[in-house]
Amino acid sequence: MSNREAMLEKLADLDAEHAKAVAGGGEKYVERHHARGKLLPRERIELLVDEGSAFLELSPLAGWGSDFTVGASVVTGIGVIEGVECMITANDPSVKGGASNPWTVKKIFRASQIAEENGLPTVALVESGGADLPTQKEIFIPGGKLFRDITRSSAAKQPTVAIVFGNSTAGGAYVPGMSDYTVMVKEQAKVFLGGPPLVKMATGEESDDESLGGAEMHARVSGLADYLAEDEHDALRIGRRIVARLNWRKATPSRRSLTPQDVNQRRLGEVTASTNADSAYAEPDADPEGLLDLIPTDLKEPFDPREVIARLVDGVSPTNGVAFDEFKPLYGPSLVTGWAKIHGRQVGILANAQGVLFSEEAQKATQFIQLANQVDVPLLFLHNTTGYMVGKEYEQGGIIKHGAMMINAVSNSTVPHLSVIMGASYGAGNYGMNGRAYDPRFLFTWPSAKSAVMGPAQLAGVLSIVARAAAEAKGKEYDEAGDAAMREFIEASVEEQSLPFFLSGMLYDDGVIDPRDTRTVLGICLSVIENKAYSGTDRFGVFRM
Ligand code: COA
Repeated sequence: MSNREAMLEKLADLDAEHAKAVAGGGEKYVERHHARGKLLPRERIELLVDEGSAFLELSPLAGWGSDFTVGASVVTGIGVIEGVECMITANDPSVKGGASNPWTVKKIFRASQIAEENGLPTVALVESGGADLPTQKEIFIPGGKLFRDITRSSAAKQPTVAIVFGNSTAGGAYVPGMSDYTVMVKEQAKVFLGGPPLVKMATGEESDDESLGGAEMHARVSGLADYLAEDEHDALRIGRRIVARLNWRKATPSRRSLTPQDVNQRRLGEVTASTNADSAYAEPDADPEGLLDLIPTDLKEPFDPREVIARLVDGVSPTNGVAFDEFKPLYGPSLVTGWAKIHGRQVGILANAQGVLFSEEAQKATQFIQLANQVDVPLLFLHNTTGYMVGKEYEQGGIIKHGAMMINAVSNSTVPHLSVIMGASYGAGNYGMNGRAYDPRFLFTWPSAKSAVMGPAQLAGVLSIVARAAAEAKGKEYDEAGDAAMREFIEASVEEQSLPFFLSGMLYDDGVIDPRDTRTVLGICLSVIENKAYSGTDRFGVFRM
């Protein structure tokens, strides 16, 4: 099978998994929801965002491989509303009444982390049965963070808007309660700490939904609703008007002198003063379609990341003389480093070439990360690594010290980081290349990716060697048949757990993407990070030389 065929097959599998998330609770519940005259979360989002703008959906495979519906009964992502990039969350009421299960909570935590790190306003489209009651023990205590994050966001001058379309009971009532702006849909929104049965039990009082928590009541009596919407469309229109009045300005100051062209465009209101982007840029010199041919089906085969870079970054243009200025090309050739632009915005790129990271690569990466911090340029990590080199020669040459230097640089760097796992991402190589635990602003995975502590065969082999040595030490005969079965089982399960759907299901990335969409996704991310000021650090940990 050709590389392209294999990648297309994986992309078809990805489409099938995404379709499960889009299908929500399935035909029966979707029909019932529509029959009630209500819109689904993705329909709501489509009406909320600017017409024709891109919506960067996040974690669509959350909960994959668990007992819960793929997507975890909530849609999250970044959308542009009245020209403002906002974090949007939308409960899916067709899945278990929109109740939040443990994956829903993790997915919303991730969305609010992204909003916080990138300084985005948040719009929550609320209709939820609250906590998924059978799994309440896993969500009740950590779930409190959801409400804490809303008010912390507000305090950080990142406004929060809640549009309530239906049920928002008990803990859920604190979503509108904590938000800066609240819109409620007439005859649909129900916001109360306890519904009529609970009130009856607690105090003996007879009540009904509308008087306890209806939209009219909250708009006219309690004051919890700032706006009373006639229907769902009206609510989304009001949501757009709220964002339009946020007086939103991106925080990142221009990193370059303005050209006369910029000034003219500014006067015409086409370019904001706060962007460091070139207003004109060229598409990549090589066709992104070719990315499908590049990634070998067997990740042991190396591929040249320059071929990937040429398909991701801006091509040659009057403002971009060279597409990719490679740094230190002759030193540490297993890691490619250099400068380029994506959608007119400069990035420093670190991309694995031969898979293994040696001391030279680790030192080169450390220096390059320092250089990016010196000039306040975001970093892009393109993973295809089996980790740091092992063996006597390399241990004696200080591979641990050098790997530690690279991890130190990645950990303490304060320019925004973006990561894309193209192929392998194993062992400490995952850490050095800014894996999930190192908090890149965004991390996306290609369907060709694999990530684990080490390769499945190596892991099974290590376990076997350890077990054999233990048996010998006890003077016992080693069970060869048992060993073969154990290796097979371990290899298969580690293989499964290292695949993108599984990792994405665990929220270890922000989504699995089609390699051909990478440039667009990175372009959105680079624009999003400009919402919050950043500057590079000159304070790293002690470098062990
Ligand atoms: N936890 C687990 N499952 C829930 C749930 C919850 N909080 N809320 C709803 N569900 C399930 C229902 O059991 C039902 O499952 P089924 O179809 O497999 O039988 C499915 O979700 C749809 O619920 P249904 O009541 O038919 O939907 P609805 O749209 O008519 O009503 C609610 C939705 C949310 C108004 C209603 O289900 C409800 O009041 N749920 C409980 C709300 C609550 O008090 N939560 C506690 C907050 S901490």
